[in-house]
Amino acid sequence: MKTKKAKFITIEGTEGSGKSSVINFLKNFLEAQGFSVIVFREPGTTKIGEKIRHILLDKESSELSAHTELLLYLAARAQLIEEKLKAAFKEFDFVICDRFYDSTLVYQGIGLGLGKIVFDAVKKFSLGVNPDLTILLDADPRVGLNRIEKKDRIESRPLVFHEKLRRGFLSLAKKYPKRVKVVDAGGSLAEIYPRVEKTVCRKFKI
Ligand code: TMP
Repeated sequence: MKTKKAKFITIEGTEGSGKSSVINFLKNFLEAQGFSVIVFREPGTTKIGEKIRHILLDKESSELSAHTELLLYLAARAQLIEEKLKAAFKEFDFVICDRFYDSTLVYQGIGLGLGKIVFDAVKKFSLGVNPDLTILLDADPRVGLNRIEKKDRIESRPLVFHEKLRRGFLSLAKKYPKRVKVVDAGGSLAEIYPRVEKTVCRKFKI
């Protein structure tokens, strides 16, 4: 993308791994350094994306088939890219996204076992957008899930599913070591924040 100015950071991890707190911290940190920052979330952010998110996370959507689930995540992403992301890349120094295509590769590709079709579809419908840095918050899913009081459709899946996701994310980090950086999300937020800061500063020479 010729006109892209922003650095694109995505934050990934299993359920309850502390993404929201980390994103909040990172936004404040980067703004304190004088950078302009915008935060998006996936699925969601756009009006259409938020409607799709509701369908995906609603426990009443129990009939949703694996392929429909995949297509809905891709649809929400395409809407975000076309409606917001491409413009934000021209306007801001940093664009942070709470989840992006690695979640699809792991949740639908590995978790639901859809495999290669997911890789092909993700490539096609990410419309040429790729993160410059992906921070993988690695934590024990059992601990993360325990933090969540009211579980949605995906969080309610069995622990083995979430453990498979953790391994899946770690295997992506191995496959793309330059882009995906694993941050230990164990311990207190006061311990996690400096790990995140160090990773971002190192990557972008801040
Ligand atoms: P969040 O609650 O962390 O914002 O994420 C929404 C849920 O959707 C979470 O359970 C992860 C899941 N998800 C997928 O299964 N595939 C995807 O492509 C994305 C972006 C999220």
